[in-house]
Amino acid sequence: MVGYAVARREVFQTAQQRYGRLPMPDLTVTPTILKETMPLYERVKHFIPPMEWAVYAPYVHAINRIKKERNAVILAHNYQSPDIFHCVADIVGDSLQLARDATKVDAEIIIQCGVHFMAETSKLLNPEKTVLIPDGEAGCSLSESITGADVRMLKSRFPGVPVVTYVNTSADVKAETDICCTSSNVVSIVESLESDTVLCIPDEYLALNVAKQTKKKILTWKGRCEVHERFTPEELLAYKEADPNIQIIGHPECHPDVIAVCDFSGSTAGMINYVKTERPPKVLLVTECSMASNIEAETPGVEFVKPCNLCPHMKRITLPKILTSLLDMTEEVLVDPAIADRARLAVERMIELSR
Ligand code: 13P
Ligand code: SF4
Repeated sequence: MVGYAVARREVFQTAQQRYGRLPMPDLTVTPTILKETMPLYERVKHFIPPMEWAVYAPYVHAINRIKKERNAVILAHNYQSPDIFHCVADIVGDSLQLARDATKVDAEIIIQCGVHFMAETSKLLNPEKTVLIPDGEAGCSLSESITGADVRMLKSRFPGVPVVTYVNTSADVKAETDICCTSSNVVSIVESLESDTVLCIPDEYLALNVAKQTKKKILTWKGRCEVHERFTPEELLAYKEADPNIQIIGHPECHPDVIAVCDFSGSTAGMINYVKTERPPKVLLVTECSMASNIEAETPGVEFVKPCNLCPHMKRITLPKILTSLLDMTEEVLVDPAIADRARLAVERMIELSR
């Protein structure tokens, strides 16, 4: 057994050992860099003044070049800042879209611009690929609210009750789960189960919002998203009072009293879709505020009101860190093989049911 462990350690190589490091490119802005990045600047010119673009452009240019050299793909969540979302990402989306698209990428290396559970999900679905996150400290208050041991305790307290776990959890928690869900498919996943009672964890507010849309008894946990729990119905009603024509659309991680005053509720992709198809003249997105900036350029004629709640974890990802990640092949995301198969099954069941 000891011999086996030693042998395994000898063959294991980090991503940096497998691919090697690349030298830091010259990040001086030149007329060529400005010319080549101009089409990308067009997408973010509403948020980045021309003077500041001189700082962004060399990073954008270098990342896009090295990404190709490394045969890497950048997946970015809808909450990433506009420079990442519009200028270096290859695939953008909500948690479900990113999980699905992670199974389809050809590239050898995935750079996950989002939080750690998203990178872990990509690794679960691509065990043979190298998955990197530009900042391994990019966590999530929901993911940190619960452990695998907590789920085992819940299962012993409620034997036979199926466990539906939000993707915003660690692989350890997913491994104890019957099926995962995201905010876009949680109701249909709960409805697909035969049991009259379902454990829907760890987001208390998401579970309370689901309970309003199903006859099943929903048991939950005390997890909260630190960004969405800050919104109150009072502040949203004040916006409505100031302008009754404003449309308010909210993420289901908000308290049910907040969702009750919204005109529409859905995942980040659902919210984007709503704005793109309905084109409300004035809209307030009750969610992380980068998202409004990301879709503003594509929805002319829609005025966005931005109560600015930023997710500090999402905002840990920056262009300089993405560049370092590509050059140094860090930080590599690995999942304990003892839990990976069971965690993968829970994610794959969700993807299968959402087809
Ligand atoms: P979505 O699945 O709606 O993108 O949500 C992920 C998330 O972290 C929301 O806070
Ligand atoms: Fe987690 Fe909330 Fe940040 Fe999403 S917005 S990553 S749920 S803390």
